[in-house]
Amino acid sequence: MFKDFGGMEDILENLKVDVIIPFYRPELFRSLNSKGKPISGILLHGPPGCGKTKLANAIANEAGVPFYQISATDVVSGVSGASEEKIRDLFSKAYRTAPSVVFIDEIDAIASKRENLNKGMERRIVTQLMTCMDESHQNTGLADIESDSGTSDRNPAYVLVIGATNRLDDIDSALRRPGRFCREICLRVPDEEARRHILSVLTSNCRLEGAIDHDKLARFTPGFVGADLAALVNEAGILARPLLPEKMENYGITMADFEKAATAIQPSSRREGFAEIPDVKWEDIGGYDSLRKEFENSIVNRIRYREINEKFGVNSEVGILLYGPPGCGKTLIAKAVANEATANFIHIKGLEILNKYVGESESQIRTIFSRAQTCAPCIIFFDEVYMDLCSMHSC
Ligand SMILES: Nc1ncnc2c1ncn2[C@@H]1O[C@H](COP(=O)(O)OP(=O)(O)O)[C@@H](O)[C@H]1O
Ligand SMILES: [Mg+2]
Repeated sequence: MFKDFGGMEDILENLKVDVIIPFYRPELFRSLNSKGKPISGILLHGPPGCGKTKLANAIANEAGVPFYQISATDVVSGVSGASEEKIRDLFSKAYRTAPSVVFIDEIDAIASKRENLNKGMERRIVTQLMTCMDESHQNTGLADIESDSGTSDRNPAYVLVIGATNRLDDIDSALRRPGRFCREICLRVPDEEARRHILSVLTSNCRLEGAIDHDKLARFTPGFVGADLAALVNEAGILARPLLPEKMENYGITMADFEKAATAIQPSSRREGFAEIPDVKWEDIGGYDSLRKEFENSIVNRIRYREINEKFGVNSEVGILLYGPPGCGKTLIAKAVANEATANFIHIKGLEILNKYVGESESQIRTIFSRAQTCAPCIIFFDEVYMDLCSMHSC
């Protein structure tokens, strides 16, 4: 249910109005929305562990309608023709019991950009999916005309299709269109405030002992996504468990258990070696005092006080070029700046993104920027930039 989520109130509020209401109050929805058509499909995207699968389930629960789930990796396995059959079956069950939700998890496994697909099978799967979705849309259109019975409490032909992916850029653009996945929702890596909400939701059913400082836990867990925080709460529960079974009756999780668990859990972003807050401190570098001041002004304070800055119209986005001979500490300085600002840090070595295929490097740069956005505040460090890369950087 929606109440089990923390740190995404805006998303849930919008879903209630745009998605939940059309399920059981189509007439109310039509009177609120001049276009009158409910959303045909939602694409949930964002890094792993941010709650995409859980949110898809929660939408169906919240609307109180049947939920038909298929994982894209299941669809592709099997003999030729079986995959399309699976999709058709899923949709026909969904229509029979409409209103309902169809959920395709990890949809990039079947719906990656068609120019990347060399196998005919995958192409057929995407085509089948589009056909089913288009039918869904048409049926919904019919329902708009026919269900004018005044106070009908269900929208009888409405099938909402939800897809989830970690790699939005890979999704076939033919699916990202009105009538298909017309709405895209980004689930981001939670910031400190969101982590505090998630922790308080996750611990609301735990047996706690003494005061739990959620603010402090949120501060100590940068880079943790919802799944990491759930693992943390679970680990704290294990740590708190007494060894003697007769003491099981009255134990509770203490703040110390949470703090210990926080050091034991590796957030998934760090495991992937992708973005994390570096542990380099200015004190580790030596000298460069005036440079430190300059960075305080140009980056650190902009990130640290971004809410205040935004009120005064100061944009926290900024680009800086560091130059100097090899070995003078450019990388260390960039890391210390990120540490000071408690920003995530993505280290890109110039040569890594130079690709011999035309257009490939540009697409990699776009991917880097969109990933950085999901874990903002974030500093992208392009190491060993060359002039041609500099010009792409501005994209
Ligand atoms: N915003 C959130 N609020 C509460 N719990 C969350 C949140 N995001 C993730 N979780 C927890 O993490 C678990 C895994 O999330 P999941 O939906 O599998 O992520 P994804 O599908 O994006 O990889 C959930 O079951 C839930 O316990
Ligand atoms: Mg998932």
